[in-house]
Amino acid sequence: MGRKPRVEYKGEDIENGVKILAKLMRESANTVVLTGAGMDTESNIPDFRGKNGWWKSIDPRLVASIDSFYENYELFHEFYTTRIKRLEDIKPHEGHYILADFERRGIIKSIATQNVSGLHHMAGSKKVYELHGNIKKIKCNQCNHETELKDFFNKKNCSLCGNLLRPDVVLFGEALPADVWALAENDIRKCDLLIVIGTSLEVYPVNQFPKIAKSKTVFINNEDISFDHEFDIKLIGKAKEVLKMMPST
Ligand code: APR
Repeated sequence: MGRKPRVEYKGEDIENGVKILAKLMRESANTVVLTGAGMDTESNIPDFRGKNGWWKSIDPRLVASIDSFYENYELFHEFYTTRIKRLEDIKPHEGHYILADFERRGIIKSIATQNVSGLHHMAGSKKVYELHGNIKKIKCNQCNHETELKDFFNKKNCSLCGNLLRPDVVLFGEALPADVWALAENDIRKCDLLIVIGTSLEVYPVNQFPKIAKSKTVFINNEDISFDHEFDIKLIGKAKEVLKMMPST
């Protein structure tokens, strides 16, 4: 019975895992990256299910679901106003810039992200699929008319139809934007290598992507998670630190 290949690398051993990841990237003609909130925590944005995550102290059904929008707009409005204001002076970290540089050099093709912070775009990544939207874009819940952040902060109603305003993000109980999903799914189905960074893979349907990919799959996360998919390799460490270890060649 042959030895099972090494899958998980962490601690001092993570350098060996990074070497294997670099080799997989060199051998891949088409690499796609999938990111979650763990990609943004080193830019001081809390994640959701990590030890200091949003959902450790707040029930998402009360503040981030379409029901909460209709049933308790006050609380919904307060939660998103707090989140948006906390993003006012955030900046991408080195890991975001490394991914943008990889795209410029043709090393990665695109990034599918669950994050609504816009940090990948801010770091210069061009092909970014914002699967859960962008929290700084404000729209009317009824007619989708886009308006400014200050109108949302000031609880203005839509200037066209008079309905309530909200961030252009996917709330629990809502479908993902079909056009963005299709683009991301198409890239992931065609890729040779899918690198998944900083996500608990707890939220459907994005958590299906590692299984949809026919490619080699790599998981970079600061904690191991039990997920019904066998990654080719897992690097247990912080996103920025692991990306900084990547060889620049
Ligand atoms: N480096 C690597 N991993 C990290 C880091 C880091 N610096 N910081 C946190 N993590 C890990 C956490 O341990 C956790 O396993 O990233 C993962 C983040 O998981 P979640 O908080 O569940 O975030 P995510 O998977 O993106 O959530 C998906 O859930 O609430 C919804 O819409 C929200 O898009 C979000 C979706």
